[in-house]
Amino acid sequence: MSKLRNTEWRIDLAPEEAEQVKAYIQKTSPWQVELHIGDDLKASDFGAHHRRFVKNPLVKVKMLENALPEGALEKLDILDVGYNYGYTGLYLGQKFGCKVTGIDVQPLYQQTASFLAGLLGVDSEYLLEDAHYFCRPEQFDLITHFGTLYHLRHPFLALENSVKCLKPGGYIALETIIYTGESHLNKWIYGYNNDVSNFWALHIETLESMMTISDCTLINILSMHHGKVMHTEEDKLARGTILFQKNKS
Ligand SMILES: C[S@@+](CC[C@H](N)C(=O)[O-])C[C@H]1O[C@@H](n2cnc3c(N)ncnc32)[C@H](O)[C@@H]1O
Repeated sequence: MSKLRNTEWRIDLAPEEAEQVKAYIQKTSPWQVELHIGDDLKASDFGAHHRRFVKNPLVKVKMLENALPEGALEKLDILDVGYNYGYTGLYLGQKFGCKVTGIDVQPLYQQTASFLAGLLGVDSEYLLEDAHYFCRPEQFDLITHFGTLYHLRHPFLALENSVKCLKPGGYIALETIIYTGESHLNKWIYGYNNDVSNFWALHIETLESMMTISDCTLINILSMHHGKVMHTEEDKLARGTILFQKNKS
């Protein structure tokens, strides 16, 4: 067996199902994330997207898993915001028996995540819904909100609606671009990295304030990385993962 880093995304399937996935990847290539199917097949065998190709898509969910007590993720009702190819929710569904609801706005991602969930037997619904407005009050134990907040024009509205979806005591793990300059400022990053789907890099104090107003408490900053991988320190940007809990009463 090849030695994959545990942040890589791997699925193991019967030969017939692996062939179905192979045909699907061929039809929808190039992919933006790496998926290993057993030892012998991977998404990048059919090309890799030139702008975005993520080799370790499970980094964020593994960070969350490591931060929580053993057993805390078992059989939760999860909302995965911006599910993309589905890897975060599918991992939690397969490993912990979580029930996954995903929201995203791209039909290709809905088709892909639903197809893979069917093969993997993950109890899930992958929806086409806008993260600004989606709201199912008090339905979820955990929200994974990774890599999506800075793509939203109205982050406070989106966060308020997300928090409404949480049961009291539920958790929301937010991974986003953070502004690290003056604490009373935030940064408009429209067009940053030649990407017009980037809007706001919030300061951590703004984010905490928005979440406090929305009835949450900051539990832990799981990561805060400056660097040149995506952003330079000169731009006063970082990537952060922050865990919040909805207040119990
Ligand atoms: C950079 S990807 C992040 C994917 C994954 N969550 C991760 O962190 O690796 C951002 C995702 O958010 C989705 N997205 C963008 N705007 C959205 C919106 N208004 N509502 C829901 N999803 C959105 C995109 O289609 C894309 O799948």
